[in-house]
Order: sequence, then structure tokens, then C-alpha cells
Amino acid sequence: MIPSGTVRPGSGLAVAAPALAGCGGLQSALAPAGRGAEQIAQIFWWSAAFAALIWLGVVGLGIWALLGRVDLHPGSGNRLVIGAGAVFPTVVLTVYLVVGLRALPELLAPAPEGSLQIRVVGEQFWWRVFYQGEDGAWVETANELHLPVDEPVQLLLESADVIHSLWVPSLGGKIDMIPGRTNRLTLHPTRTGVFRGACAEFCGASHAHMALDVVVRERAGFDQWLADQAAPALPPADERAERGRALFFRTGCGACHAIRGTPADGAIGPDLTHVGSRRSIAAGRLPAGPAGLARWLSETDHLKPGVRMPAFGMLGPDEVEALATYLDGLR
Ligand code: CUA
Repeated sequence: MIPSGTVRPGSGLAVAAPALAGCGGLQSALAPAGRGAEQIAQIFWWSAAFAALIWLGVVGLGIWALLGRVDLHPGSGNRLVIGAGAVFPTVVLTVYLVVGLRALPELLAPAPEGSLQIRVVGEQFWWRVFYQGEDGAWVETANELHLPVDEPVQLLLESADVIHSLWVPSLGGKIDMIPGRTNRLTLHPTRTGVFRGACAEFCGASHAHMALDVVVRERAGFDQWLADQAAPALPPADERAERGRALFFRTGCGACHAIRGTPADGAIGPDLTHVGSRRSIAAGRLPAGPAGLARWLSETDHLKPGVRMPAFGMLGPDEVEALATYLDGLR
């Protein structure tokens, strides 16, 4: 046992680990998995290297001055101030401007005609997502973006209430979602994997709980996924799920949520037709599965302050479990 007050060996590392983990993995602009992100990362590394050089130069000059070796000719002080204080920063900032402007057209270029289009609508505090199915009809889902690898995808971004901002750092740049406007962003994933997106504009009490799971896979897998999403909901698999389904309708869930293939056609909350197939629930707030669903049903306001869905405290634990079982079965 380690006595209190003793610093555990390696505890500094333990503290630094989460911070360092932020520099890699599923949500990092410096571990690019998309064309836009690659470009942004490149600009970052060049800037960082150049900034390090300037820092070394400034520190070197400082040390030189501290050592008292400065013996400038009359007038050379002025030249130093004008050169290093005005001309040099102007040149550096101009180079930055040119590099940044040159990157913009590619970052903002629309996807070519015929590319996959996905509509994403920001809501407090989740994402409504529409895919165009094979028959041209839009398929609604929520809080998850599935993309085929090595293809440009056109995102059409809207907002239903306040300004949100969609950012998947591993894949590309971020762009605001503004009420009354459709903004466009092209994502072009270059490798498969699961990434994390987030809302990058303060949009209310639960702005921090507005995440987005992004799944990039091969085209065939993507097509299969989309076909599954377009299909109507599965019927309850067992008696408990059956009871959950009855509760879903008795408690009025269908007034806000849609489950295609059932009478539930609410348009306020997320479409739940295939909620059981998602990686997380409540926009990344909880892991998927019956336990997470049950917790969400009983603690919505606590888990996501400001959320429009009320907690269903009037349901007994047994009922919550049945409801969660039904929803989890909607694969
Ligand atoms: Cu939506 Cu912040």
C-alpha cells in the first residue's frame, strides 16, 4: 500500500496520459484519416516547425543579450527593430495567408456530381441524419455517420434550432450549421475505422454531450448497412421485448419518435427504427446496449441537462428494462 502524501511512481505519466491520448486515436486532427484532415495536419506541422525555429531564434537573441555580449553599432538597433519587429513578421504572416488561402479551394470544394449525399441536421443536442437510399428516398437515422472509404461524400448541413458546428477532426475541417441555411462540407475518408465527431459550437447546456460516431468502411459493407437502415424495424424477439413494445406505445413514446413499420411516427426526437444497431445512445452520451438504454430512460435530464425528452420516472425498474430490451432489439 502506498501511504497518503507519497507520489506514486509514474503518477505524472498517469496524469499526462489522457492529455497525450488527445493527440491520437479516434478524434485527432493530427492522426488524419481523410483528405481534408491530411491537408490541415500538414499545415499544422509546417507551422509548428517554423514556430519552433522562431522561438529558438528569439530565445537565442535573449540569451545573447543577457550575457551582455551586445555591442551594436549606432543605428543598428533601429535596423534590428524594423527588420525583426516589422518586416520579418509581415513576411511570415503573408506566407501563412498565402498557404492558408491556397488550401481553401480544396478544403471547400464540393464533391463531384453523383457523389453520395448525406443531410445532417443539428438539434439540441443530437444529430438527425438522412441518407439517400437506392430508390432515391431519404432514410432517416441519428447520431451516427457511416461513410464509404476512398470516396468523396457531400454533407449538407442544417440546423433545426441554434447554431451548431460539425467537426470530425480525423476526417476534415469543421463548419457551422446555421438555422435557415444549408452549408456544405466534403469528407473524403482515406482509411477505414471508427472516428469521433463533436459539436464544435456552444449550443446550450449539453453542448458537451453532442458527439457523433463516424464509421468508415468498404463500399460493400456500407451498401449493406444502408440497405439494413432502409428496412422497417424488426418485430420484438421475445416476450419481454413484446412487453416493452406495448409500453412504448402506452407511454406515448411514438409521439416524439418514429419506428418505421410501426404506428410510431413522431418527428421530434431521433428515429429509433434501428436504434439497437448504433454504437452509442443519446449522441455518444452512453454506450449502446440495454443497460445504457435503461439508464437513459430513467435519467435523461440528469445525463443531458436541457434535453427535451423527459425522464420516465413513473415506470418501474421492470418496465424500464422491458422497454430497453425492446429498443435494443431494434437492430
Ligand atoms: Cu450542438 Cu454544440
